[in-house]
Amino acid sequence: MERQSELTEKILKLKKQRNAVILAHNYELGETQDIADFVGDSLDLSQKAAKTDADVIVFCGVHFMAETASILSPQKTVLLPDEHAGCPMANMITAPQLREKKKEYPGATVVCYVNSSAAVKAESFICCTSANAVGVVESVDADEIIFVPDQYLGHYLSTKTSKKMILWPGFCPTHARIMPEYIIKLRQEYPEAKVVVHPECRPDVIALADQVLSTSGMIEFAQREDVKEVIVGTEMGLIYRLRKENPGKKFIPVSEQAICPNMKLITLEKVLWSLEEMKPVIKVPENIRLKAKAAVDRMLAVGRSA
Ligand code: 13P
Ligand code: SF4
Repeated sequence: MERQSELTEKILKLKKQRNAVILAHNYELGETQDIADFVGDSLDLSQKAAKTDADVIVFCGVHFMAETASILSPQKTVLLPDEHAGCPMANMITAPQLREKKKEYPGATVVCYVNSSAAVKAESFICCTSANAVGVVESVDADEIIFVPDQYLGHYLSTKTSKKMILWPGFCPTHARIMPEYIIKLRQEYPEAKVVVHPECRPDVIALADQVLSTSGMIEFAQREDVKEVIVGTEMGLIYRLRKENPGKKFIPVSEQAICPNMKLITLEKVLWSLEEMKPVIKVPENIRLKAKAAVDRMLAVGRSA
């Protein structure tokens, strides 16, 4: 505890000196969430990154999130306290691979999940997050969509929209640990509980859920008065925030193994160090940034739907 308060004090002091804002994803360690100015899902965080008037954004999340902040706010210094905090799903497709796919389906429009590199976004028409994927896909004026890189989110979208979805075989290794049999067992144990799952889960998991929501969508759902017990199918970091904000309610993780090791790389020590050294800086090259920004701006114009 002493460690935490000492580090927090130093971080807050330096944050003020640097005119920095600290943004954290809902999957970050509790201690990191606690020092952030704002905690949210991918859509919330990109909206914040676009609007902040700070000079420095300390991004407590993974690489593609810091890149999105740099795409939206190129004049700001974007720091990712551990440069190894990547997203394996985002790394499952490269820009040259996407260009090949586009040649195969010349009539299709590319929608990319925000969990992708800036170079992949630059090859896409529009991007989406779990909070607005249905609205984004419906907004596209084309019948055929190439959806990258998450096959499971893409499959979910094919059940929610009328579009023909051409899927890329990417997936989130953390959400792939959430298995349908765990939910079946927990439903027997907690018959009154609601089941919420993230759309990065496998289709046989999604089929068992009462609600399919983004991480902030789950936070909002948990605040409903009629909701007392929730079986939660997503990364464990969200459980911390759910319990902190809803002390009288019960949250049961579907799997305690659903931990994203990349999100957990960001610690208070690294946040302090990155503010002291002003690195590692994430900066997207201007030629890629401008093309990627068009895809992100189109997404931000759609807004939130889940
Ligand atoms: P959201 O918080 O946008 O729902 O996304 C989950 C995720 O996997 C981020 O990497
Ligand atoms: Fe990527 Fe999955 Fe981790 Fe999200 S939870 S950052 S999708 S690996």
